This record gives sequence, structure tokens and C-alpha cells, in this order.
Amino acid sequence: MTTTPARRLDVTGMVRVARERVVARVREAEVVAAALSAGRNVLLEGPPGTGKTTLLRALADGAGVPLVLVEGNAELTPTRLVGHHDASRVLTEDYRPENFVPGPLTRAMTDGAVLYVEELNRVPEETMNVLLGVLSEREMHVPRYGRVAARPTFRLVAAMNPFDAVGTARVTPALYDRSCRVAMGYQDEDAELAVVAAATGGPAPLVARAVRTVRITRDHPELRIGASVRGAIDTVLIAVELAVVRGQEGAGGDTTGLDAALAALTGKVTLADGAARPVEDVVADIWRRAGEELGKG
Ligand SMILES: Nc1ncnc2c1ncn2[C@@H]1O[C@H](COP(=O)(O)OP(=O)(O)O)[C@@H](O)[C@H]1O
Ligand SMILES: [Mg+2]
Repeated sequence: MTTTPARRLDVTGMVRVARERVVARVREAEVVAAALSAGRNVLLEGPPGTGKTTLLRALADGAGVPLVLVEGNAELTPTRLVGHHDASRVLTEDYRPENFVPGPLTRAMTDGAVLYVEELNRVPEETMNVLLGVLSEREMHVPRYGRVAARPTFRLVAAMNPFDAVGTARVTPALYDRSCRVAMGYQDEDAELAVVAAATGGPAPLVARAVRTVRITRDHPELRIGASVRGAIDTVLIAVELAVVRGQEGAGGDTTGLDAALAALTGKVTLADGAARPVEDVVADIWRRAGEELGKG
């Protein structure tokens, strides 16, 4: 049986599409594109909302390769990932290849897609072992179905949040050894302003205040986990709609911004252990402080 070595991807096309769609992140785009083109698998490490999915989608589109996205969690068993035989058809027809319902891994391998597993650290150990096998061999054996070989453009990209308390230790040295690691931390304020402006089209002062607010949440003593740029995007989108509801101009008044920030952020941040007041009070303070820092408190 022939194995299917990885073949190069359109690395220039990948970087071009990333430049069109992704704010900054030029170095990351180039490095991930180069690693994927070279047939390597990639581990993206960074907190939620740092543009990992956005970057990968752009790179896959630039390469003209489909992207298969899988959310990693405790329910992602090997069967869910690989596929299963249709139980009722097995009863009447026994195990046959036609009864096999391929899971995302099998589909990605046979379509030559990029398989993107988010929150890799949350998947069960047996599932991680299946992925490890595919990383080394570019093929797998599925009981009662047979051998599945990866097409030449198949790649595996996994993402994980290094600060996630769940199962980060489960990502074994064997997996690190078989992939390349690219860190995706929070972007600088200018980049986040550009991301939120592009995602919302909201008024500049509101965008600036929302971005400053989420940035303060990330190293605030009363919060254990702060908000990503997603929190700023939500704040702006909600404030603009809320202003319409209330018949106000543009982004509305200060209370409108605050109401939006509370809705957008109180569920996204986590209070530090032993915090003495409700999360609403902390977020409201940060919203006010952001306004003061930007000179419209
Ligand atoms: N560098 C970036 N360029 C463009 N959009 C970005 C960037 N970073 C984050 N975003 C936007 O922020 C949100 C979260 O990004 P996403 O790619 O889903 O993050 P992650 O996969 O790391 O959780 C999306 O709406 C995305 O469009
Ligand atoms: Mg993502």
C-alpha cells in the first residue's frame, strides 16, 4: 500500500489572504503558512479570542484547501472523531463500508483538508492517541472499515489555551514533538482597535473605550480571567443597538455604554478568589476608569 506524503501548499496565496483578512499577525501568518506548506502540523497556543480561528480560516482559504473544524471537549471520543457504523443498518446488513458514517478526522483525511481541533487539551486521552497516530503515519486503520490514508494536502492544526485549567498536562511531549508550536498572545492596543473597528464599524470613541476596558480586565487584581477582544466587539455592537432602542444618537450616552459593557463582559470575565464584590461592580468600575483614561470620564 502506498502512503501519501504531504505536498507543498500555496504558501504565497496563504499569506496574501491572511494579510487581507487578519489584522497584524504578519509574522504568525508567515510562520504557520510555512510550517503547513512544509507538511508540518501546527499547535496554536493562546487564550480565546486571539484570532487563531480567523488566521487559520484565512490560511486554508489561501491554500485552496477545505477547513474542517472540531470543538475539543470531553465528549469528543475516538468514535466521534473517526466515525461509526450506522447501528440500524449494521443490524440488517452487517458491517459494510457503505454503513460507515465518517467523522471529521476521516473526512478531513480523505478530502485533503486542514483539520482544526480547538481546545485540544480538553479531548480525552484515547482521542489524543488517535490524533498522534495520524500525525506520525498520515493514515489510520478503522476497525471493520479499513485503512484511511490522508490525501497529500491533509494537515492537523490544534489550538489550546495554555491557561486553561483543564487537562493541559495531557498534551504529551510526543504530540509537541510531532508538531510545531506558534504562540498567539493578546495583540497590542492599536491592533485590537483595528480588529474591533473592522468587526463592528462602530464610532471610534466607543471602540476605543471598549478596547481599553477589556485590556484593563486582563490584569485587574479583582479578576482571575479577563476578556478578549471578543468582549470589546460585543460591547460596541450592543451599545449601538441599545442606542437605537433608546432613540439616542450614535453610541448613546454613558449609561448605554455601561449597560452594553455589563451585558458583554460580566459573563466573560472570572472573579479572582476571595473577591469581595459582585462582578457587575468590578466591570462598571473598569468601564468608568477606561473612560477617564481616555479623557471622557
Ligand atoms: N488579528 C485579527 N484580525 C481580524 N479579526 C480578529 C483578529 N483577532 C481577533 N479577531 C476577531 O475577534 C474574534 C475572535 O477571533 P477568533 O479567531 O475566533 O479567536 P480564537 O479562535 O483565538 O478564539 C473574531 O470575531 C475575529 O474576527
Ligand atoms: Mg477559535
